Amino acid sequence: MSVDVNEERLQEFGGHVAGYLTGAVLSFAIWLGDELGLYRAMAGQGPMTADGVAKRSGCHPTLVRQWIDGQAAGGLVTYDGTTDTYELSPEAALTLADDTSPAFMARAIQAFGSLYRDLDKLADAYRGDGGLSWSDHDAALFEGTEWFFRGGYRAELPAWLAMLDGTHTTLSNGGRIADVGCGHGASCVVMAEAYPGAHVYGFDFHAASIEIAAQRCAEAGVADRTSFAVADAKSYGGTFDLICFFDCLHDMGDPVGIARYARQRLSPEGSVLLVEPFALDDRAANMTENPLAALGYTAGATVCTPNSLSQEVGLGLGPQAGEARLRAVFDEAGYSRFRRVAETPLNLILEAKP
Ligand SMILES: C[S@@+](CC[C@H](N)C(=O)[O-])C[C@H]1O[C@@H](n2cnc3c(N)ncnc32)[C@H](O)[C@@H]1O
Repeated sequence: MSVDVNEERLQEFGGHVAGYLTGAVLSFAIWLGDELGLYRAMAGQGPMTADGVAKRSGCHPTLVRQWIDGQAAGGLVTYDGTTDTYELSPEAALTLADDTSPAFMARAIQAFGSLYRDLDKLADAYRGDGGLSWSDHDAALFEGTEWFFRGGYRAELPAWLAMLDGTHTTLSNGGRIADVGCGHGASCVVMAEAYPGAHVYGFDFHAASIEIAAQRCAEAGVADRTSFAVADAKSYGGTFDLICFFDCLHDMGDPVGIARYARQRLSPEGSVLLVEPFALDDRAANMTENPLAALGYTAGATVCTPNSLSQEVGLGLGPQAGEARLRAVFDEAGYSRFRRVAETPLNLILEAKP
């Protein structure tokens, strides 16, 4: 069968793919720049020569010149040909150099970079039973995930907590919070800072992440009101006024069983705070209208769903489930109330009550 190929569309499609290839290599260059302190060397310095950036960062001048020309060609730094100098704009500095800024994105790239290192393991999962546990990924995934979500939690989480039914009053007077699947504990730090009288218990089945979460809380000066334990989402002990799942329920094998277990662990007036990646309920609409859908589905196909398939039940919900599918999980788990509290371009913020 002969196929008619439209030359113009072929070129256009090639350009589309070349854009992704360029994005991949520039993403790597951002990771490298963050690792080497190249952006930090430029932040707030005004126009600099490539040699000046190399000197300030202690890196090889020939390599830095090539790296920085790539950055200028990619629109990440500005270049002035008359003075042969480069500059990091204040906006670029907040995004690439200042890791205390909510706009900081440079380190999140590690989450996606880790996938290149895990290609063989992922190919085996695709050809086999689909399972690849979170804990069997390259460690860059764990740090990248922390930085991917951290800015949003810092900027928005206190407001989300204040919107939950009765939770703000309870936590302002003490109270117990469980952060299930807490990873590196970015959300634990924010909650411990927001409610100094409450106690935050972080649980995760990944022992290395629990160690880092405790370290992050110690660095933030909130170790006295946080505790951590290695535990599966169906095995932690205690009773809580608030049980949180931050960007993790869809990663788990048995979301219904896990929601049911959380219900048994809630105090009578307690709430579940479910934060999930933003997605529209209609899959076709989600693919075309949600700008983060390509990232979400691909992260699902390489990290979240393989982890889910490696666990009991193996539902494979994925990070683009959407509110209606998540509501069905909590209905099946026996909750009487479920509502959308807020949304951001990145997240759906949902509350479930027993
Ligand atoms: C995408 S990460 C989110 C981490 C953290 N909540 C955040 O927002 O940065 C998913 C987390 O769920 C954890 N996890 C996956 N399955 C789990 C299970 N069955 N029980 C407990 N933790 C689990 C992983 O170890 C990982 O830390």
